[in-house]
Amino acid sequence: MNSKQWQCVDAGSDYCPCHLAEENSCIICTQLQGKGYCDCNWMGVCIYDEFYFAGNKKKGVRESREYPVVGSKVIGKIIFLTIKVTRYMARVLKQPGSYVFIRNKHSDYFFDVPISIMDCDEEKSVIKIAVEICGVKTKKLTDHGGTVIVRGPYWNGIFGLNALKTTQNARCLVLARGIAQAPAILSIKHLLKNNNVVDIIVNKRTDEHNFIKEYLGEPIREVNMPSDDVAILCRELMKENNYKLIFIGGSDPLQNKIIECIQETDDVKFVTTNNNPICCGEGICGSCVKKDKSGALVKTCKAQRI
Ligand SMILES: Cc1cc2nc3c(=O)[nH]c(=O)nc-3n(C[C@H](O)[C@H](O)[C@H](O)COP(=O)(O)OP(=O)(O)OC[C@H]3O[C@@H](n4cnc5c(N)ncnc54)[C@H](O)[C@@H]3O)c2cc1C
Ligand code: FES
Repeated sequence: MNSKQWQCVDAGSDYCPCHLAEENSCIICTQLQGKGYCDCNWMGVCIYDEFYFAGNKKKGVRESREYPVVGSKVIGKIIFLTIKVTRYMARVLKQPGSYVFIRNKHSDYFFDVPISIMDCDEEKSVIKIAVEICGVKTKKLTDHGGTVIVRGPYWNGIFGLNALKTTQNARCLVLARGIAQAPAILSIKHLLKNNNVVDIIVNKRTDEHNFIKEYLGEPIREVNMPSDDVAILCRELMKENNYKLIFIGGSDPLQNKIIECIQETDDVKFVTTNNNPICCGEGICGSCVKKDKSGALVKTCKAQRI
């Protein structure tokens, strides 16, 4: 993995240096990759310095903790939970791309399921999540009994965070299908805070709950996202509006369809949901690893392309 092409989402955070530094596998620092020389693109506090002055040790790790559920409702296959967390957790989870691992308190740690933060109220110290009930792990959350185990904070739920955070005074397009509306909400809020105009398109399906409008008003369009209509519509809208950023919340095939269609014609930044299987979130277990274009293995739970 080329540390000049990839950034670590945890770099400079309360959790850096991490286990990977102790194992000579830091995503950014060549010293902490065992190479014996400095050659990184990281602009923050030197990770090697931090590690060295801490006695060649990592910083603290994220812990699992039980938190009360203060709001819970079910709409169709989706359970919406409001969880009272610490002030610290609410503060660090309000940025786009944030997610936590969550499980029923009676389940073992391997029931941990990564779930995006849909909304966050720092004043009240609450986070809101939406969970689509589909398999063994998520089914266990339906009978939470008033508390859940949460591990976090984690931030790599979205690729293209740098573009999302730096786009200002521009027109942007957000496409969100199904449960991917959840990570879209913090992202849209961030874009609006940065004085962008945001057009929102959701999937058109009668049995799909479009909860994005509860937060942000009517989407501009509903379109059948599994069909090619969505790519054609995006291309048309792109010509009219010259979007500087397109957020795609949905499956990899949906993302690829839109990116291929737009890239042919225009220069635009893409921000996409991270759809890879994530288990540890710490760059250790390997479940999220993907090959990049050069064939290098990338830990997608932590890595962001520069
Ligand atoms: C960063 C991130 C944020 C997510 N945010 C949300 C969210 O806000 N709401 C929501 O409902 N879902 C979200 N998911 C997806 C959610 O984690 C999976 O639906 C869940 O793990 C399925 O587990 P299961 O045992 O219930 O179902 P399974 O039957 O095991 O799986 C159902 C589907 O989920 C996928 N999946 C299973 N385990 C994982 C895993 N550890 N990581 C990723 N995908 C997995 C499977 O490949 C399959 O496609 C997110 C996933 C990631 C990676
Ligand atoms: S989820 Fe374990 S290495 Fe990325």
